[in-house]
Amino acid sequence: MVTANYLVIGSGVAGLTFAVKIAEKFPNRNVIIVTKANEDESNTKYAQGGVAVVLNKEKDSFNKHIEDTLIAGDGLCDKEVVEMVIKEGPDRLEELMLWGANFDLDDSGEFDLGKEGGHSEYRVVHHKDITGFEVERALLKRAHQLANISILPHHFAIDLVTNHHIKDSNEEELVCYGAYIFNQKTGDIFTIKADSTLLASGGIGCVYGHTTNPVIATGDGIAMAYRAKALIQDMEFVQFHPTALYEPKGESSFLISEAVRGFGAYLRDKNGHRFMLDYDERAELASRDIVSQSIDNELKKSGESNVFLDCTHLDLDAFKKHFPNIYQKCLDYHIDIATDWIPVVPASHYLCGGINVDKDGKTTIENLFACGECSRTGLHGANRLASNSLLEALVYAHNIYKYLSDNDIEVLDVTIPDWNDEGTKIEKEHILIQHNLTQLQALMRDYVGIVRSNKRLRKAVKHLDLIYSEVEDLYKESKITTSLCELRNMVNIAHLIVNQSLERTENKGGYFNVDNVK
Ligand code: FAD
Ligand code: SIN
Repeated sequence: MVTANYLVIGSGVAGLTFAVKIAEKFPNRNVIIVTKANEDESNTKYAQGGVAVVLNKEKDSFNKHIEDTLIAGDGLCDKEVVEMVIKEGPDRLEELMLWGANFDLDDSGEFDLGKEGGHSEYRVVHHKDITGFEVERALLKRAHQLANISILPHHFAIDLVTNHHIKDSNEEELVCYGAYIFNQKTGDIFTIKADSTLLASGGIGCVYGHTTNPVIATGDGIAMAYRAKALIQDMEFVQFHPTALYEPKGESSFLISEAVRGFGAYLRDKNGHRFMLDYDERAELASRDIVSQSIDNELKKSGESNVFLDCTHLDLDAFKKHFPNIYQKCLDYHIDIATDWIPVVPASHYLCGGINVDKDGKTTIENLFACGECSRTGLHGANRLASNSLLEALVYAHNIYKYLSDNDIEVLDVTIPDWNDEGTKIEKEHILIQHNLTQLQALMRDYVGIVRSNKRLRKAVKHLDLIYSEVEDLYKESKITTSLCELRNMVNIAHLIVNQSLERTENKGGYFNVDNVK
């Protein structure tokens, strides 16, 4: 068994920011970060558009950003949380820059601010179109400078340890004592016992086959918290990004940043019609839920597989300067944005719900915190405003750090049993795992997509039950593998999305059910 003052699960913006802050504050306490792939692999690394922060107080204001966030969230945001996060933004950005993150400046040396859907002003700070890569780089560099942080790549958190695991525990409240960790290189499973545990394990995009997210986004933290009986909320609000690159072989769901529409690109159908004008006066810059639902509607009407993003009228040199990565990626697919329209289609992108936390990032389990995309803070309501996610992670990582700096954690002396793998004998069942994963992703696409209905959701429940029992049987009999644990987690996540969808009787933001239309 290994012990830590702070166990952090995940090395994206949420986990690293917290780790750096707490390690700087308490050089004599140890922070262990476990992360299941290479240390930089995360949704964070792929963030494009940037961080939404109010910096130009002459043109912009906190109130405008607050208002935009509340409108995007369609009445379901927690207003106090929205105000707190947006007002904290500038300080958190400054801190990130002190750790070495660089953001683009314009010719007069001011921040070059971008615009995205749902924003009434230019306020998105960015590093070209690879903002997340820069943020991840700077945070990892700082984390490596701190001797009391250990990063364990290729270490997979399987489950949280709570009083359920402790023999004769007489705690009435649920308490977290750390997690069981699988060393993916050696196959060993060991316990990390921690005074405080932070879930910073990111999103769930891969529950859908077509996603902008990398393969790590399998909802592990939310599934672990759910199994440990933490409160999980708002799972029906899966955000679909309107413009993933359409690639007929389905090999890529590369994101074409919303900032490209902020830069002036138009959405067109195959006949050239700028259809967003038919749906919303903000046209291409309506909030993400509206643009995705409109594209979905266009595709259902036309039977086409994709719509197009037209950049041909834009200043090519300026485009290349702002979006070099997108420009190159399109060329790789033989799309010259100067002359060709980019084929695009919505793809699952972000989860607005997750593990319920209060303003200090505390979950409903004692000594367990959650931060970033796996958490549900109340900031996003029914639909996240673009570029508010990195901001939320930065602010909540700070709040959790503050809470843990100002409050003593009661450390209970308990004996944690070792991981029990009795009865597991099957070595590897790749075919069964892949078969169930393909079925799960097809089910989510066909029955739990952008537009839902009660009939399709009920069908999803039935099919999911079958997949669930097959996967649980497999899990009980098999030696642990990452892909099996991820599949099990994704099945839990799918259940949460489907069941919480069925409970929602009013359409809001990113949730649209034809049976709720009055
Ligand atoms: P992540 O960055 O996803 O990190 C999660 C970490 O947890 C990873 O290191 C992962 O390996 C690890 N992990 C997961 N499960 C386990 C486990 N079982 N055991 C051990 N480790 C585990 N947001 C914005 O605000 N602005 C943008 O411009 C923007 N652009 C985006 C573009 C793309 C293509 C994508 C996919 C997302 C974008 N987002 C953007 C959303 C934003 O990037 C994410 O919501 C945010 O980075 C999440 O950070 P995080 O730290 O919570 O999770
Ligand atoms: C994008 O660049 O379009 C993604 C922004 C976000 O998800 O906030």
